[in-house]
Amino acid sequence: MSRMVWFNRDVVNVLDFNREDIEVLFSKADEMRRQLKENNVKKTLSNKVIGLAFFEPSTRTRMSFETAAKRLGAETVGFTGEEGTSVAKGETFADTIKMIDSYVDAIVLRHKYEGAALFASNIAEKPVINGGDGRSHHPTQAFLDLYTTKTLFNDIDGLTFALIGDLKYSRTVSSLIFALTFFKPKEVILISPQQLKLREEIRLFALEHGLKLREEEKIEAISDADVIYVTRIQKERFPDLQEYEKVKGSYKISKKLLETYAKKTAKVLHPLPRVDELLPDVDNTSYQAYFLQASLGVPLRMALLSLVLGGE
Ligand code: NCD
Repeated sequence: MSRMVWFNRDVVNVLDFNREDIEVLFSKADEMRRQLKENNVKKTLSNKVIGLAFFEPSTRTRMSFETAAKRLGAETVGFTGEEGTSVAKGETFADTIKMIDSYVDAIVLRHKYEGAALFASNIAEKPVINGGDGRSHHPTQAFLDLYTTKTLFNDIDGLTFALIGDLKYSRTVSSLIFALTFFKPKEVILISPQQLKLREEIRLFALEHGLKLREEEKIEAISDADVIYVTRIQKERFPDLQEYEKVKGSYKISKKLLETYAKKTAKVLHPLPRVDELLPDVDNTSYQAYFLQASLGVPLRMALLSLVLGGE
């Protein structure tokens, strides 16, 4: 019954779903992982075409969606960046979406403007999956972050999360906080410079929905965390680059820092790409879980495409 919740749905905002829906997605992702491992993926989407409309740069989100689609037997069409499309000739966003909608069975969209995915979902008849809109939402990343957490710790409830870095402009942070309101984490520690604190409307929403939040500036606050979620300072979203200059390089998570302050069992997640906030010397430690996180993007997005397009 609950599988039907995903069928033909837009995936724009985590809050359009609930805990049960997310658990359905996770068990489907487990099934996809098994099929991948056994090299026995059922080509259930072999008659489908997925449109990948990436108006903003992307490596993981686009390529994991594309891989997911192809593993399930679907075809993909699309672009990354506006050059080479008619947007460069002045075509409106609405017209571009209408065209893609008439060609494909589902649209994965990334755009620099907040609300772009919602707008597109109102125009398109086919399902629109938000691959990130401005600083607002990145629902499939949040599902992936929690799926990785569940894979590592077997549970999400009862864990302490530390979210570090650009809590103001990072869309992965807002979507993750929204998703966490469906669960019962012990505490969510928000570590950022003053200028990059979580936006007030999201903070209030989280509090109203039962999340226990603690705001900190010092990186030592990671000491209670099970999940240490590091983010890149989102340079491209600062209205004033001088403001970026003041906060760039605020935190640098290194092997030494983790060995000094973190729990031995803690795991570091990062949506990637990293710049200088997460040093490569963490890569070969037991804390590192961001490469697993990136790789789980394929089964998680296979599950999502399969549920949305009715692949069973
Ligand atoms: C993130 C994004 O695009 O918001 N990347 C991703 O999808 N994995 C994070 C970022 O760009 O910092």
